[in-house]
Amino acid sequence: MFVKICSKSELPEGGVFRFDPETAEKAIVVCNEGGEYYAIGDKCSHGNWSLAEGLLENCHLECVLHGSSFNLKTGWPDKRPATKPVKVFTVKVEGDDILVDIESGVLLEKPDA
Ligand code: FES
Repeated sequence: MFVKICSKSELPEGGVFRFDPETAEKAIVVCNEGGEYYAIGDKCSHGNWSLAEGLLENCHLECVLHGSSFNLKTGWPDKRPATKPVKVFTVKVEGDDILVDIESGVLLEKPDA
């Protein structure tokens, strides 16, 4: 089920937008990385901290609490202390709207190093 998260103007390049469909546990963070939109689970797999507060850089979102850096395409952390992925969601753009399929969240297999 695709849900409008925000408009493009609300999520400029380098921007991070937190969407909370029901509870904080189901919150999603949507990022604009170089004009491409990505959505991952908002809760860091290490300490359950909100990734929406994180630093977006080079298609990774870094958790501000301990510095784990999550790949927006795979959901996997490239830096410890986190060792488990966060869910990755399907995103689409319709006109000026950014939509996420909030039921599409999956934990992807760890990519080959
Ligand atoms: S809570 Fe995110 S790295 Fe520890």
